Amino acid sequence: MTNQTSDVLDVTDLRTYFPVRSRGLIPRTIGAVKAVDGVSLSLDAGETLGLVGESGSGKTTAARSILMLVRPTGGSVKIDGEEITDLSARKLMPIRRKAQMIFQDPYNALNPRHTVGAIITAPFKVQKVVPPGGVKKGVLELMERVGLNPEHYNRYPNEFSGGQRQRIGIARAIALRPKLIVCDEPVSALDVSIQAQILNLLRDLQKEFGIAYLFVAHDLAVVRQISHRVAVMYLGKIMETAPRELIYSRPLHPYTHSLLSAVPVPDPKRQAHRKSRIVLHGDLPSPIDPPSGCVFRTRCFQAQERCAVEVPPLVELAPGHHVACHFPIAVEDLPARAEVQALTADDPQEATPDVQIVSREEAADGAAGAAGKGRGAQEEALDEGGAAEEGVSLNKPRA
Ligand SMILES: Nc1ncnc2c1ncn2[C@@H]1O[C@H](COP(=O)(O)OP(=O)(O)O)[C@@H](O)[C@H]1O
Ligand code: SF4
Ligand SMILES: [Mg+2]
Repeated sequence: MTNQTSDVLDVTDLRTYFPVRSRGLIPRTIGAVKAVDGVSLSLDAGETLGLVGESGSGKTTAARSILMLVRPTGGSVKIDGEEITDLSARKLMPIRRKAQMIFQDPYNALNPRHTVGAIITAPFKVQKVVPPGGVKKGVLELMERVGLNPEHYNRYPNEFSGGQRQRIGIARAIALRPKLIVCDEPVSALDVSIQAQILNLLRDLQKEFGIAYLFVAHDLAVVRQISHRVAVMYLGKIMETAPRELIYSRPLHPYTHSLLSAVPVPDPKRQAHRKSRIVLHGDLPSPIDPPSGCVFRTRCFQAQERCAVEVPPLVELAPGHHVACHFPIAVEDLPARAEVQALTADDPQEATPDVQIVSREEAADGAAGAAGKGRGAQEEALDEGGAAEEGVSLNKPRA
């Protein structure tokens, strides 16, 4: 995956560290939160890569860093072949036409003081683009395309439901026909029935316009519905990446096994796996002081001495299937070797329709990405081209 050439997005060794400062009159930088630590991924036109992991694993930071909404500490991001990590806010402006974002929280992402019409008009205005027939006609067509009533042009975001607000965000994101949309948990705040409608809309738009999605979610069931490929993230790093079916039917990384064991899977081939459940002990370690060697070792049922001293590289073990583990394990070997907890057939987990990997901090999660920003600030930062917040900059100064 790392060396794959891609049309739309190519990310290599992306790192985003946030400074940790001492308290006191003269704060000093005493460490760094390694929120994203060496992520490589790529996306072709019309493709969806699902990025999954527990809350706090760095998905939002990776998503925002890829669009320079948080300035990364290091690494390379190429959009449509162009390196963008060194671009100034002004030079990022044309990139915004090619790459857009849909934010997690439909209640806070849109500026409450702007009408829907104004919100969807903004990308045309900022980029000085006039669609055939004029901007207003273009906006009304977009509203219709995403399933909003064009008569609601002059209404304000608070007059809409969560699902409708997400449609406003989608209309805005597709206005300039971008090649890439980074979607940060776009359906996590919505009811399951509304989730399906929004996922269908995203899929239809992808077919129509050939858009590539980087689709971030903590919910493996949601990711499965929309992704062509899936990347599993843990403590700032990619642990495993593979075509969708392989991730779900033949995971090789112990962390992926742990995540999947919480999700009921209707595939009979995974029956053996369903009978056992891996218990993921403890919390995610702090990204300020991640474990040595393999960052997953403190919770891994397979961990051995080597795991504490050697960082496992992401290696291609089968075509398109990359795994960062010294001791990858296939499904059929799992019950004998893993620390498992037997599930009876009538276990309530089996009947749960939509088990999420981790739901803790979900409400606060959006706040991590949009920390301290006013309502609509994310959307506006995207328009203006600049970063809403800064990571520790180790990159050369930007022009
Ligand atoms: N602006 C920030 N300053 C400091 N730490 C941050 C900031 N944003 C996120 N983090 C930390 O980075 C880690 C990854 O967070 P995040 O990217 O929001 O993860 P996810 O989206 O997977 O839940 C967490 O430990 C979080 O507390
Ligand atoms: S490298 Fe070791 S600790 Fe890490 S996932 Fe593999 S077996 Fe577990
Ligand atoms: Mg997040």
